[in-house]
Amino acid sequence: MIAIHHRKGSFSDKWIEYCEVHNVPYKIVDCYSNNIIEQVRDCKAFMWNWGHSDFIAKKFVLQLTHSLEMIGIVVFPNIKTGWHYDDKLGQKYLLEAINAPSIPTHIFYNKSKAIRWAKTENFPKVFKTRNGAGAMNVKLIKNSKEAINIIKRSFGKGIPSYNKVSKIKDKWWKFKRDRTILSLMRVVKHILKSILPLRYVAQYSVERNYAYFQDFIPNSKFDYRMKVIGNRCWGFRRNVRENDFRASGSGLVNYDPDLIPEQLIKLSFDIAKKLKLQSVAFDFIEHKGSFKIIELSYSFGMTDGQTELGYWDSDLKWKPGKFNPEYWMIEDVLEKV
Ligand SMILES: Nc1ncnc2c1ncn2[C@@H]1O[C@H](COP(=O)(O)OP(=O)(O)O)[C@@H](O)[C@H]1O
Ligand SMILES: [Mg+2]
Repeated sequence: MIAIHHRKGSFSDKWIEYCEVHNVPYKIVDCYSNNIIEQVRDCKAFMWNWGHSDFIAKKFVLQLTHSLEMIGIVVFPNIKTGWHYDDKLGQKYLLEAINAPSIPTHIFYNKSKAIRWAKTENFPKVFKTRNGAGAMNVKLIKNSKEAINIIKRSFGKGIPSYNKVSKIKDKWWKFKRDRTILSLMRVVKHILKSILPLRYVAQYSVERNYAYFQDFIPNSKFDYRMKVIGNRCWGFRRNVRENDFRASGSGLVNYDPDLIPEQLIKLSFDIAKKLKLQSVAFDFIEHKGSFKIIELSYSFGMTDGQTELGYWDSDLKWKPGKFNPEYWMIEDVLEKV
């Protein structure tokens, strides 16, 4: 028996479909209820696709995961796969620890130390909060004055992780790109969202008492989003926004598998294996002929149309045709139980 927490529109749609089609016994559980351990105790496995903006889930999901693993239940995502999700700070330590190719990252927990650094450092640098998606909290810092300002804010009133200005700018850019009624409505929606005291927006954290900077990799026209589940890998290239350095969230994707260097497929398999990840999407950026990891996420968008094309197996052989990544997740879990 597999326990599944169902969230419509998440991976669980396909997990349930898989169980129905393949006659796998499963039960729907409710992770937010007090007796979740009792609900799951008689199951061999537990699966929950929690999201990065599920602020309630993030209060307890790692604690729940660890507790279930302690009694021998196979969990997806397990601790090794999920603990660093939407946590760039955690990822810094993890990538450094395994000597993964990553971008030099400078983290400060002390204001004066950070300011001293900013006074002598070369710029530009990239400032980020530990959380956030779609490049919402990723900002180019052009000189030490800007750095000092953002450091003061980080150790003062803090950086709201819902960046209203960045959201509106992004929707405006997308409107100019698409020129559709829908994209215009999204601009209006986000302006309203930034004015109205919405509960949803208020739930986002304010990030303070640390400052995260990364060396800036100049002249990138795109990044790569590579996904690995067990011994399958697929990925695509994303162009940066016009007059911008950020690719994440641009929607300018190119699915042509011939654009993916073999070296990158190998590297993705290699790091996923080293970190014992059940599922991962890596963002990679190219710098002087080699690839650096920007970030990793156990959960990712599935509506990328790319699952029609094919994937590479661990011998780097291309397997053409439509595939179901969510099915792979559950197949790998079933193999473990
Ligand atoms: N250090 C960097 N140098 C140059 N470009 C970067 C750097 N870090 C991020 N980027 C660009 O910004 C985008 C968003 O960064 P990322 O850290 O992945 O944030 P998010 O979690 O919002 O996707 C990336 O897709 C990449 O194009
Ligand atoms: Mg990213």
